[in-house]
Amino acid sequence: MSDRLPLIAGNWKMNLDHLQSIAFVQKLAWTLKDARHDFSTVEVAVFPPFTDLRSVQTLIAADKLELRHGAQDLSAHDSGAYTGEVSGAFLAALDCRYVIVGHSERRTLHGETDEVVASKVAAALRFGLVPIVCVGETADDLETHGPSAVPVAQLRAALEDVAPGSALVVAYEPVWAIGSGQAATPDQAQQVAAALRAVLAERDGAWAAATRILYGGSVKAANIAGFMREPDVDGALVGGASIVVDEFASIVRYQKHVGV
Ligand code: PGA
Repeated sequence: MSDRLPLIAGNWKMNLDHLQSIAFVQKLAWTLKDARHDFSTVEVAVFPPFTDLRSVQTLIAADKLELRHGAQDLSAHDSGAYTGEVSGAFLAALDCRYVIVGHSERRTLHGETDEVVASKVAAALRFGLVPIVCVGETADDLETHGPSAVPVAQLRAALEDVAPGSALVVAYEPVWAIGSGQAATPDQAQQVAAALRAVLAERDGAWAAATRILYGGSVKAANIAGFMREPDVDGALVGGASIVVDEFASIVRYQKHVGV
């Protein structure tokens, strides 16, 4: 096993308002406490909508929870006339540790190009946030280019101006697996995760060895263990199953399924 700390990240997408977020985080914290979850063996982070972040931050601080929180997106700009945008500075001020960048829904529904993703990665790093850089191929890409070509190209583009050694997380999320109920196989995830690690290794071997690579796309309690057994998969980015407390807690506690 590597010494990379596994990370289970819950991307709530546009679900749960600020009141629901409080109830959810309280229940998640109780469930994990009851189960005696050891956060030093598996890190857990939630990614609520922007409007929930202050409530979640306050609750985590008041109850001294070991949960981390982060945002689902950020602006490429630091401040100014960008209506509707949210600066990485504001996220850092809310104690966000992570920020998701380049999720496929941002790429497809909001036209985020590789250049935009790269500028958002840079913005996150400027404010000390750890970007979770999402890459992944569509079903068409898979058929035309095979499994790794598109994710590898997306990662190279996102990291072009990033200094090796920068603290970041990579998430491999095949677009065809997101929200479809049809996850990749652990083998497929491993193959692409290894190719993504090789992209980092081209720049710096120690960076590649230290950086966590997550799998995302229809992860649930019933399939998490298979992914976590793979040597290059260091956790999961979970969408639909992350807003169901018991299911998410069960994913976090994947070790009990397999004894890894
Ligand atoms: P899913 O979403 O778990 O619902 O497939 C994953 C994601 O979009 O990050």
